Amino acid sequence: MMPLIRPRRLRATPAMRRLVAETRLHPNQLVWPLFVGEDSAPISSMPGVIRHDLTSVEEAARKAVDAGLGGVMLFGVPDDADKDEQGTQGWLPDGMGQRAASAVRNAVGDELVVMIDTCLDEFTTHGHCGVLDEHGGVDNDATLELYGRMAVAQAEAGAHVVSPSGMMDGQVAVIREALDAAGHSDVAILAYAAKYASAFYGPFREAVSSTLQGDRRTYQQDPGNRREGVREARLDLAEGADMVMVKPASHYLDVLADVAAITDVPVVAYQVSGEYAMIEAAAERGWIDRQRAVEESVTSIARAGADIVLTYWALELARWLK
Ligand code: PBG
Repeated sequence: MMPLIRPRRLRATPAMRRLVAETRLHPNQLVWPLFVGEDSAPISSMPGVIRHDLTSVEEAARKAVDAGLGGVMLFGVPDDADKDEQGTQGWLPDGMGQRAASAVRNAVGDELVVMIDTCLDEFTTHGHCGVLDEHGGVDNDATLELYGRMAVAQAEAGAHVVSPSGMMDGQVAVIREALDAAGHSDVAILAYAAKYASAFYGPFREAVSSTLQGDRRTYQQDPGNRREGVREARLDLAEGADMVMVKPASHYLDVLADVAAITDVPVVAYQVSGEYAMIEAAAERGWIDRQRAVEESVTSIARAGADIVLTYWALELARWLK
């Protein structure tokens, strides 16, 4: 019996495979996360990624423009001496994040979308994403007001997009209100909608010199909860999110597909530090083909439903795609 239907016909040549490709990556959909501190330094658990200073981040942003990237996501990393219980540097005009945003915005203008992380964990001595109550728990409602201030400071510094990543209930609505009240109704909100309490953030914690003791399980989601990811996305949409994110990416492709199915705004996925580190480590040992693994991982994230992907390989991948 000869098969009547032969899917292999459409795989016969590279040209045919290109023609029938269902998922195509483009540099415009890639966002490059950048860490910015007083001094530049390598990040040992993320080979190839550095913490920038204010000069080198401008150069990085110009490279991003040249490579045709969609945007950059900035993380301000203050010196330990500048951290406090409240994360004050998060919203002061001369806080590390605001200085990074204005440096990058001055360097690239509107040629790149300048996004910034809106969360207190980089700026607090205890390393939590919000302020603590008298029992040491993270105080949701007290944190919201600070997020509002932080978003306004970031908008004033030149960010096009603010990105609340702290998983406080109601954060998108409060930030929208604060931005609008301050005259920044044109600044968009990328909501980290479904963000899981993940082991794959490990290398990031080194990158931002995190002081966190314990974990974030009272505010980030349990990895086993799929339906809850959709619930979180719906809430953020109702609060006015302009884009919604699922994070991490590779191990949460089901959540990503679910969120993409119910959403009428752009869907974003964050390929996080641990996803990066795993592929880099295996490739360094010669156990996998680095370029193919990178391309396959990002393609899979797009296939599952991400319109936009945050990835530490953004610049390199964009250059391969050209
Ligand atoms: C919180 C934040 C985290 C990441 C991005 N924003 C860490 C966390 O929740 O602990 C992780 C990014 C990565 O691992 O690449 N501000």
